[in-house]
Amino acid sequence: KRSKRDMELELEMPMEGGGEQGRWEEERLKTASLSFGAKKEREKGLKAEREKYQLILEEDEIINFVSSAEQEQAALSQAEVQKQSIQEVRRSLPVFPYREDLLLAIQQHQILVIEGETGSGKTTQIPQFLMESGYNDGGMKIGCTQPRRVAAMSVAARVAQEVGVKLGNEVGYSIRFEDCTSERTVLKYMTDGIGLCLKVVVVIIDEAHERTLHTDILFGLIKDIARFRPDLKVLVASATLDTERFSCFFDDAPVFRIPGRRFPVDIFYTKAPEADYLEACVVSVLQIHVTQPPGDCLVFLTGQEEIETCCELLQERCRRLGSKISELLVLPIYANLPSDMQAKIFSPTPPGSRKVVVATNIAETSLTIDGIIYVIDPGFCKQKSYNARTGMESLIVTPCSRASANQRAGRAGRVAAGKCFRLYTAWAFKHEMEESTVPEIQRTNLGNVVLLLKSLGINDLIHFDFMDPPPHETLVLDIKYLLCFSLNISIFLYLSRYKCSEEVLTIAAMLSVNNSIFYRPKDKVVHADNARQNFVVPGGDHMVLLNVYTQWLESGYSTQWCYENFIQFRSMKRARDVREQLEGLMDRIEVEVCSSGGDIVPIRKAVTAGYFYHTARLSKGGYKTVKHQQTVYVHPNSSLFEEQPRWLIYHELVFTTKEFMRQVIEIDSSWLLEVAPHYYKNKELEDSSSKKMPRKQGKAKEELG
Ligand code: CDP
Ligand code: MG
Repeated sequence: KRSKRDMELELEMPMEGGGEQGRWEEERLKTASLSFGAKKEREKGLKAEREKYQLILEEDEIINFVSSAEQEQAALSQAEVQKQSIQEVRRSLPVFPYREDLLLAIQQHQILVIEGETGSGKTTQIPQFLMESGYNDGGMKIGCTQPRRVAAMSVAARVAQEVGVKLGNEVGYSIRFEDCTSERTVLKYMTDGIGLCLKVVVVIIDEAHERTLHTDILFGLIKDIARFRPDLKVLVASATLDTERFSCFFDDAPVFRIPGRRFPVDIFYTKAPEADYLEACVVSVLQIHVTQPPGDCLVFLTGQEEIETCCELLQERCRRLGSKISELLVLPIYANLPSDMQAKIFSPTPPGSRKVVVATNIAETSLTIDGIIYVIDPGFCKQKSYNARTGMESLIVTPCSRASANQRAGRAGRVAAGKCFRLYTAWAFKHEMEESTVPEIQRTNLGNVVLLLKSLGINDLIHFDFMDPPPHETLVLDIKYLLCFSLNISIFLYLSRYKCSEEVLTIAAMLSVNNSIFYRPKDKVVHADNARQNFVVPGGDHMVLLNVYTQWLESGYSTQWCYENFIQFRSMKRARDVREQLEGLMDRIEVEVCSSGGDIVPIRKAVTAGYFYHTARLSKGGYKTVKHQQTVYVHPNSSLFEEQPRWLIYHELVFTTKEFMRQVIEIDSSWLLEVAPHYYKNKELEDSSSKKMPRKQGKAKEELG
């Protein structure tokens, strides 16, 4: 089936000037139709299309037009870029000519919104301008917040290189559980909390348009802080989206617009919907590769698994086509990718070959890869959604918004005129996609937010100054949830009763880096699964995690050991950090750290004490949660998938194809009355069948290891 598609390769590519061939429909979006460089006949072919999209054109006057001379020059300079010195590259960025105006505006206003096309140099250059003009004199510091860890790391590395210092010295980054800064650090890129000490003189809230949860909370906090710290400068940096909203929220703060230098991008839509967008991506990349002039290609997919599959299919087909095609470098980029692999996407493409970067949303606005001319956009993204009633958070693949789609297309027009292939119809774009993405705060479990705000001493959550307040109902329910969550402190109290804090600390730490422990590369699935199977011990997934950690500890925290056992070293390292922090906490609340000495019952009882409200009981064909009678299933990755014990505590519920319980541990229902007598009635916990003892009782008493 697939090879037949390969044969069709040459047939389907849109030709210059003809929008009507094959499966593509062409449209020149936005500025494109007004550019000076387009060919006459193409202009003619597109006229009708353009009239149809007149509205879109009008909405978008912010974008600047370029002359054909400029355009040609830029195309030339694309090849030259690699040879240019770092300083020359800096000077060539759109933000550079506005350096003085920008500094003046910052001087004059406490809060400034800065809007500029992705790749114009906001993230990498503005902090440097501030440093160069002495904002950090007298030991002051500049902070720049980033929604994504990969972006924080890679941008800090780039800026350190531009400034000419070692990463972690004057320029550093700090992401959760990884701090790459020192006493000397002046400029810090960070994802988590912002330690707004008095030393911070400028804070840049970057990628504001992403409207992540943390960004939204920061907005509220900073607005408040700025009132009593008139010396603090606040810069809100955003791509060209919705900046008026930011201005409005910050009491009409002025907006500084950096005019973009964007080249026209031709947009192609499929004439009919694609049944399999992954397959369509692969075919489209190959089509581009064999029919289109040089230029790198960027593909947007929703997550690691899709990306790995896509890369693999591409490599396999290139291998089959062999010397019939020129070299195609296939590079993935997603959040959990090891950092050396991440860096690869920025290395220049060797002459005669083409690079294709297969990315998550991360390449939409946070990371700019130079040299991209072609973009393939299936029109999907993974989105978190939350149901406050069931407490269920799910990650669902959904159509992305029109704003996202346009950002994606824009990636093709940064260095020269480009093309964007949308694997959906023009009709779907207009009628099926939302105008813009709903802010995360309105579709998330707010438990952690509430905790965070409380830890900052903010108790009046209902009146907190949110830019877009979360649904009232969610907030109230989450506060209720939290009250019972804070009973979770009881987990610590139970630790002293059950004498197994060593083990439970490890489990808690491992759970906090949830789902990124086991490494499962596509080409070694069997080995990886065998390795995982070898870690299975009785009791459930919590015990498996404990086992992994214990073995790693015994290996002397070895990297090699992780490698051999298909365990992600970075996640383990993080778990180790969390564990240390938790141990510190134990110390503060004076709970003795001790081990159960191999007995797994106390460990499981302690987990039960902490998560008693996450109980599920075996029922026909699956499980039912005890309080809400919701049907749920054991996740296929679980060590208890086949065993199906009668009573389970789950760590979390996720919805993928079904409602799955992730990380489950087997318990005895009588423990629930022991640890949470206020929550359960004897009657609720009676087994429906007459057989009293669950069959696994004997096994559960087995010793560890
Ligand atoms: O923040 P904004 O999107 O406005 O642009 P930026 O991230 O500051 O990017 C400016 C330039 O730095 C672009 O040409 C990027 O390709 C380059 N850059 C890079 O080469 N390596 C990185 N890790 C980050 C940015
Ligand atoms: Mg940026």
